[in-house]
Amino acid sequence: MSSDLATFIRGLPKAELHLHLEGTLEPELKFLLAQRNGIELAEKTVDEVKQTYKFHDLTSFLQVYYPAMRVLQQSQDFHDLAFDYLTRAHADGIRHVEMFFDPQAHTGRGVAFATVITGYRSAIMRARREFGISAELILCFLRDHSAEYAMATLLEALPYKDWIIGVGLDSDERGNPPSKFAAVFARARREGFLLTMHCDIDQTDSIEHIRQAMEDIGVDRIDHGTNIIEDDRLVELAKSKGIGLTCCPVSNSFVTEQMKSTEILTLLDRGLTVTINSDDPSYFDAYAADNYLALAAHAGLDTDRLVELAKNSFRASWITPARLEEFLREIDAYVASSHDS
Ligand code: HPA
Ligand code: ZN
Repeated sequence: MSSDLATFIRGLPKAELHLHLEGTLEPELKFLLAQRNGIELAEKTVDEVKQTYKFHDLTSFLQVYYPAMRVLQQSQDFHDLAFDYLTRAHADGIRHVEMFFDPQAHTGRGVAFATVITGYRSAIMRARREFGISAELILCFLRDHSAEYAMATLLEALPYKDWIIGVGLDSDERGNPPSKFAAVFARARREGFLLTMHCDIDQTDSIEHIRQAMEDIGVDRIDHGTNIIEDDRLVELAKSKGIGLTCCPVSNSFVTEQMKSTEILTLLDRGLTVTINSDDPSYFDAYAADNYLALAAHAGLDTDRLVELAKNSFRASWITPARLEEFLREIDAYVASSHDS
């Protein structure tokens, strides 16, 4: 990998749209929080923690992912988690980020919704002040729990509506289709939230779930969703509705053994608003720029396609049209200046 390419990618203005805050928990912070909160961990070293990162599919990943969150207890812990991520994102050339959080993974073990969201919000405000990065929150419902629990969580979030841009759906997709949450997403839409949801890679009913997300729920974006390539009608529908896909190549290689680079690039070339993101960067050992680099290394991407992917990250985001134009101009200026140097 040429270090010139790495430098180019890091300097390229980018947005990140598929990022789970709880998936940014680095082992070092996990140790610090465990100590601060008097929690005994089975693993004693960073290496021992990394040894537990053995995933062969989404389910085996989630079995490691959720238990680790118990070290997050105080508002300060959520602040530190988000601020550490935003610091790394800024260093990676991320200018805007729309971040998932899983309130039920915390309220379900007795941490108040207010504790979670005030910590995240204070980190967002601090990062905006210190680095000029903009960040929004997307509340994800756990799809392997009931629709009633999701609705109760939505209602709990309403007092914090101004701090949350949209809602999403994550955790184990098997047997948990979008239609299960139709009423919750309809209510969220009425409350003014934008809508996205995971359609994970190679699920039993991937195509039907993607169809439901677009036609029955009316999502604004789809997280992962590359199986759409199997259905031309759905590809055309996503194009006509301007629905972006938030792809995560390194994450894909952990949960499916393939980056899905052919699918990602074919969809890009067919005109879908395909974007590149990190998903759970601590667990997959790759932040945003690493994902662009991994895809470039694997598929031999030229600068034009990298630039298109970066532009798409803003096009698929939920920023205002004026900010979008500004970022697109900035990217053009950056590319022109790197040709000169
Ligand atoms: N899919 C489903 N649930 C998740 C993911 C994902 O990519 N990352 C964190 N929780
Ligand atoms: Zn995800």
